[in-house]
Amino acid sequence: MNNITVIGAGTMGNGIAHVFAQSGFKVALADVNAPQLEKALQTITKNFDRQVSKGSVTEEQKQQALSNIQTYSDVNEAVKNAELVVEAATENIDLKLKIFRQLDETAPKGCILASNTSSISITRIAAVTKRPELVIGMHFMNPVPVMKLVEIINGYSTSTAVSDQVIALSRKLGKVPCVVNDYPGFIANKILMPMINEAIYSLYEGIADVEAIDTIMKLGMAHPMGPLQLADFIGLDVCLSILNVLYEGFGNQKYAPCPLLVNMVTAGKLGVKSGEGFYTYTAGSKELVVSERFKNR
Ligand code: CAA
Repeated sequence: MNNITVIGAGTMGNGIAHVFAQSGFKVALADVNAPQLEKALQTITKNFDRQVSKGSVTEEQKQQALSNIQTYSDVNEAVKNAELVVEAATENIDLKLKIFRQLDETAPKGCILASNTSSISITRIAAVTKRPELVIGMHFMNPVPVMKLVEIINGYSTSTAVSDQVIALSRKLGKVPCVVNDYPGFIANKILMPMINEAIYSLYEGIADVEAIDTIMKLGMAHPMGPLQLADFIGLDVCLSILNVLYEGFGNQKYAPCPLLVNMVTAGKLGVKSGEGFYTYTAGSKELVVSERFKNR
């Protein structure tokens, strides 16, 4: 397998294109929004520069990897020679179903269709195609060039051969694949999101402040980020949407999103991407500053 198409040039799509290109695959990076493609190439170059300055990639390897990426604003054109498509579009079910219907029509026969979805059912996505045995979840973690895990999700109809191929491919990227079955939140988010929700509940109930909650989990459990900082990093809207998938999917009260999370999303406080969540973010600054809203509480 050599030709990979990545659909969606946002943060995850960029990262996925980056790691495939770095491992020598030919990558067609597609996005219907042409300026987004330009921005994506700049981000990918910047992330390679970071690796060059750290000495983990040479300038020559960077140039080679960048030459492996071609951009397309026409999805049909981008999938013409694809052996694997990895869809990393916005996490919206209607959009994903539309993309998979289109991919099923236009991608070559036998091409594997993977989704980087963090919470949408692979079985549901596969059901809109005529090749459900070739549909699989390939859930990368952010930041993709750094995080070792690929959560591989077998839909109800995914064939063992396809699953084995995607496992082998993930290893070629230097990643560690873990295979799970298709149930709400898969494994990563079925376990991560209740922890984040519990951290938000602890703040909401006044048991501890933002700094204490995050420091306890960082220093006490050796997590690189505390759960509130991580929620900001992931996006509070994304956390809320995944919790709702768990809540509705299992019908269990234990997944009910904390009312504080719901309020924050309603107020447009989405974390890093909106400039404020549990912390405030200033472009260019790495300092972690607790949001005014949560100071002295
Ligand atoms: N591309 C390439 N390299 C990158 C990078 C990127 N986008 N971002 C960071 N790096 C590299 C840096 O160059 C640095 O490399 P070295 O170790 O060789 O020096 C390393 O990563 C650490 O980066 P920084 O020094 O800038 O910052 P840090 O030490 O604070 O680490 C972090 C940043 C890697 C993001 C770390 O805080 C971390 O691991 N956080 C947790 C991330 C996490 O949990 N991700 C999963 C989120 S859940 C998800 O994605 C799935 C979902 O469905 C919600």
